[in-house]
Parts: sequence; structure tokens; C-alpha cells
Amino acid sequence: MAKKKMTILDFQKFKDEGRKFAFCTAYDYTTATIVDESDVEIILVGDSLGMIMLGYDTTVPVTVDDMIHHIKPVVKGAPNTFIIGDMPFGSYNVSPEQAIETANRLTKETLCDCVKLEGGVNMAPTIRRMVDAGINVMGHIGMTPQTATSFGGFKVQGGTPESARKLIEDAKALERAGVFSMVVECVPSVVAKAMQEEVHVPILGIGAGPYVDCQVLVTQDLLGMYGDFKPKFVKQFANVRKVMVDGLNKFHEETLSGEFPTPEFSFNKAVEIPAVYGPGKN
Ligand code: KIV
Repeated sequence: MAKKKMTILDFQKFKDEGRKFAFCTAYDYTTATIVDESDVEIILVGDSLGMIMLGYDTTVPVTVDDMIHHIKPVVKGAPNTFIIGDMPFGSYNVSPEQAIETANRLTKETLCDCVKLEGGVNMAPTIRRMVDAGINVMGHIGMTPQTATSFGGFKVQGGTPESARKLIEDAKALERAGVFSMVVECVPSVVAKAMQEEVHVPILGIGAGPYVDCQVLVTQDLLGMYGDFKPKFVKQFANVRKVMVDGLNKFHEETLSGEFPTPEFSFNKAVEIPAVYGPGKN
């Protein structure tokens, strides 16, 4: 039986009832169909696609067109899963009007269920305007990859009492601005716990420990597809890369040995092929 597509109200109910949920990424149709078949409640088409699908070193070069190109097939492949479209760097930091225009485009052209953007207190006025314009917004604070160079790279945030307090203020500002939930990335577990207790909307943690409402991981990381790089917070629940390399090597081996294709994998209809006669032919 197909799973039931969740709504923003369901996620709030889960938080209120203390029920956990999970979300992962997808950037293409096939992966979206696989996640849709699983019990995972949310798919994020993240701008992490810049690194995972396009081979960039950071998420910064990703464009709105890139996002639309990847969100559309995911929406098609996962009709029973709530889908977040990520807003890439430079597509919302100019003005609230720019943010609303980008969010409108992402939503209208892909039919994703909400948009996500990075930033805390600094982005709260923009988020308020977006929410007032009827857009479903998910926040993203803590380690924010789009601006990671400003704090020295992909590092744990909120490690001092002052920075922890600042993160909690970011979370409260996002809640007041009207986000329906927020991603909290790479913060000590106790800080995420304090955020979880001080705000009422769901906290979706990636590298934020066990006390949050929802766990987030990049699918290629959790399935063990993405080479040797593995952040500390990633648990590999499968080794799909090995399964894929083994499968490719078996295909190569059987091609070379002639074991593939057998009649089972060939079109075996007998066809009488007439000889070709004519000038220059015999
Ligand atoms: O782009 C992404 O994959 C993300 C997750 C790390 C939450 O924003």
C-alpha cells in the first residue's frame, strides 16, 4: 500500500506528540521513486546536489535553474512524499522581493511542497515577508554550507556558551518569522536539545544529536554511495557503492567471457535474411 503523503500539520502533530520522523535527499527520478517506496516522510532536493551530482567543491555555484531541473523529476517520482526545494545561494539574499520571486518560481515550476533557506536572525524579516506572501518556509541554521567560508569551513557551530545562546536566538527568530520547521546542522547535542525545548516548531537535525524531532541525512551518505568522505555524524546504513561496483565488474567480466548475453537476454526470433543481389554484389 502506498504511504500517505504528510503535510505541515502532520509534522507539527508529530512534534507535539513526541513522535520522531526522518528525511533524506534525492536529486533525480529513480532515487525519488526509491525513497517514495520507503517509510521516510520527507525528501529534500538540497543544493548539496552541487557537490553530490555536479561535482562542485561547495554549494555556492548552484543556480535556481539547476534546482528546478532536479526538483521536477523528484516531484514526479515521489507523489507520496513531502518535498522540499532548496533555495540556492544568491537567490534570496538581495531583498525580500527577490526571495519571494525565487520561491514562487521554485514552487510554481516544480510543485514542491515548501522551500528551505539558510540564515537566522538576519533572514527573519525576509522569511516573515515570504510567509505573509503564502510561501511555506523551512529554516536552516547552525552550520550553513552556503556561507561556511565566513566561519572557516564545515565546522561544528554553537560550541561556546555565547554562540550556543546565539543559535537559540536564531531558532526563536525563525519561529517568530513563521517557519513551519527548521534544519539545525552540526551543533552539539545539548545545544540542539535546548533549541528543541525552546521552540515549538519541529527541529530537523543533521549532526545535531538524538534529542531533535527528525533526523536528516544525505541519501548518498547514508547508503554509502559517495566515495571515502564520511562526516562524523553520518551512519552508513548500507554499502550501495560496493554493490554497484561489484555489479559493474560482473557485467564487464561476463561480457568479456561471452557468458552475457545468453538467449534469455536476446531476441531469438528466426529471421530468414535474403541475399542481396545486384551490380557489384554476389
Ligand atoms: O542541501 C542539503 O542537502 C541540505 C542538508 C544538509 C540539510 O541542506
